[in-house]
Amino acid sequence: MIIRTLDEVTLDAVAAMKSADNPRFREIMVALVTHLHAFVREVRLTEVEFREAAAILEEMGKLTSDTQNELVLMAGSLGVSSLVCLLNNGDGGATETSQSVLGPFWRLNSPQVANGGTIVRSDTPGDPLFVTARVVDRAGEPIAGAEMDVWHASPVGLYENQDPEQAEMNLRGKFVTDSEGRFWFSTVKMVGYPIPIDGVVGRMLNTQHRQPNRPAHLHALIFKPGFKVLISQVYDPMDPNIEVDPQFGVTRALLGDYVRHDEPHPLDATIRAPWYSLDYTYVMEPGEAILPRPPIK
Ligand code: BEZ
Ligand code: FE
Repeated sequence: MIIRTLDEVTLDAVAAMKSADNPRFREIMVALVTHLHAFVREVRLTEVEFREAAAILEEMGKLTSDTQNELVLMAGSLGVSSLVCLLNNGDGGATETSQSVLGPFWRLNSPQVANGGTIVRSDTPGDPLFVTARVVDRAGEPIAGAEMDVWHASPVGLYENQDPEQAEMNLRGKFVTDSEGRFWFSTVKMVGYPIPIDGVVGRMLNTQHRQPNRPAHLHALIFKPGFKVLISQVYDPMDPNIEVDPQFGVTRALLGDYVRHDEPHPLDATIRAPWYSLDYTYVMEPGEAILPRPPIK
């Protein structure tokens, strides 16, 4: 089309999106172009701003590497990751769900650990934390033989892949649930940590006067054929930033019962108080067990 007016650009671009054969791709691209054009009109995007936006996208791509994923960070910081999660779980957002956002720090192939073992692999500060958990289906029946991948940041606020002081795969491990759907391990009590703020996301948060710390949480990815892969995070409700997660990931169902104990450990006198315990039940939904692509190596 030889374009004569502003409105004709939109009509022509939307029509071009309709030429794809795949109906889902067509649907997504038609909606994307329709909303993008409406957005540009609404804010009356200037040429300078448009060029700035292109430069920002380019910068986010360059910041993304095997150890940092600026695009995942940005999606979370805009609330999109959490929205996609809630839209696709818990009966389309009608009921509570154990699902949460994956985040940029899951790694494939974390080492297998026997139940009762520890995921602390190098000297790590912090109080001991004992996790006992169950994996059940929607009827509350235990799921045996589920593979549980867990990971969390160290109490210095860094995942092992961000921190040369930590051993490879520190605070990461893979467990298998027993016949009652249980798994259990020890680690150190995690604290909140700042998301990487040395790039575009950091500048955005700063401009918006938003604090960068995620509330303390334990990640899990649970795999069992016949069930949708469960990606979860269990948050500490006592964390000072529980209401202001820069990734909008905290839901009621994901608040964990992290209990502080000031008495000696009943089974092991060498464990000094305070120590913590966490007991949590993960609920899996039926579906296809498709692993996500790891955001980092
Ligand atoms: C995380 O919990 O690891 C995370 C999630 C989203 C963005 C940054 C970090
Ligand atoms: Fe995290």
